[in-house]
Amino acid sequence: MDHFQLKDGELACEEVGLAEIAASVGTPVYVYSTATMCRHVAALCEALEPLPDPLIAYAVKANPNGAVISTLAKAGLGADVVSGGEYRRARAAGVPADKIVFSGVGKTEEEMRLALEGGLYQFNLESLDEAEMLSAVAKAMGRTAPVGFRVNPDVAAGGHSKITTGAAENKFGIAIGDAPGAYARIATLPGLMVQGVAVHIGSQLTSLDPLDRAFTRLGELIAELRAAGHTIGVADLGGGLGVPHDPDHPAPPSPADYGAMVRRIAGGWNARLVFEPGRLIVGNAGVLLSRVIRVKPGATDPFVIVDAAMNDLMRPALYDAWHRIEAVRPSGNRRTANVVGPVCETGDTFATARPMDEVEAGDLVVFRTAGAYAAAMSSTYNSRPLTPEVLVDGKRWAIVRPRVDVDALIAADRIPDWLGGCADSPSS
Ligand code: LLP
Repeated sequence: MDHFQLKDGELACEEVGLAEIAASVGTPVYVYSTATMCRHVAALCEALEPLPDPLIAYAVKANPNGAVISTLAKAGLGADVVSGGEYRRARAAGVPADKIVFSGVGKTEEEMRLALEGGLYQFNLESLDEAEMLSAVAKAMGRTAPVGFRVNPDVAAGGHSKITTGAAENKFGIAIGDAPGAYARIATLPGLMVQGVAVHIGSQLTSLDPLDRAFTRLGELIAELRAAGHTIGVADLGGGLGVPHDPDHPAPPSPADYGAMVRRIAGGWNARLVFEPGRLIVGNAGVLLSRVIRVKPGATDPFVIVDAAMNDLMRPALYDAWHRIEAVRPSGNRRTANVVGPVCETGDTFATARPMDEVEAGDLVVFRTAGAYAAAMSSTYNSRPLTPEVLVDGKRWAIVRPRVDVDALIAADRIPDWLGGCADSPSS
């Protein structure tokens, strides 16, 4: 459930009409609901309730806005980070160091130093080479790095191939069969404290089966590692649970179903469980609010040209993702349309032949499920201003990231004082 509902015929976020936000901030603009985020946190906590002291480390990559991270930190969540930038953002937003998990295949020495200096709960290592680098960095700093390996369980997660991560051919983690040897190796390395194992097999998963298989394999590995003398007190089960997008499709398993599966498989592991949800928490807590620029006739259906584009919401262009599109003031008339942005690419298409509310120039529309991997992946392609973000909490709302306008884009460029143009270049 979310808190974007019709009030007096107009879509509102909690107590705030979206037209009011559009009039004040302009469009396109992302709008996030505090109540929806908090509801998702509560549903997950409730589902995991009987587990002793689980750590829910919000995957910052889904939505790294400081106000979002801070809301979740106040709700008790930690952070899963994959870069020095995300580590710093999590800390700046108030996430305690001992609730931060550092994932990612390409951690650099500098990022390792940053996290060791500031503290963290666990590095999830993805290769032996990385373990050796971290060992050297930690030793040089006189620190001990808490670590686990992210293992690749070779489970096809289903879903889109660009976001599946747990199949053997993917770049992530170490092959689960190599794990006993890898743990034996890192047990001998200075500066590392081996404490856990980790797995993350993909995103927007709509079935529990692949997770069930991955966790079962992880449980077998934990037993094997313990039998070999390793202390495994932490099991990081990653993120990946899908969220409902399309009311005409069956909803993915609920947090309660997920929690029951986790408790069945991992409840007896005698390890602290870590979770890294991203989309589940913020996906349906955000919309992208946009205005129709014009409606242009098409060969079959009309083109509804909106002022948001693929640079603001990349998911349809990148993954053929389906986002529900609704008029902020639905007239009750429905028609089929193509919804596109102004960017000069055919891929700048949000929906093709989509039955939707009839709209005309000047009307406001929303793209639903735009709280995760939306603003986070936006760019200024076609020199379009970076879309602002607004956070709503009941009747209150605030701009939590202002629009980065074209003046700022131009001002960020540097023209070298030697620049002479093509006529003066050495190769001319
Ligand atoms: N943990 C790790 C190590 C991850 O790589 C990810 C996501 C998560 C947790 C969070 O997964 P979630 O619970 O949000 O599914 N841009 C794509 C999604 C990429 C996900 C990358 N990793 C999209 O827009 O669908």
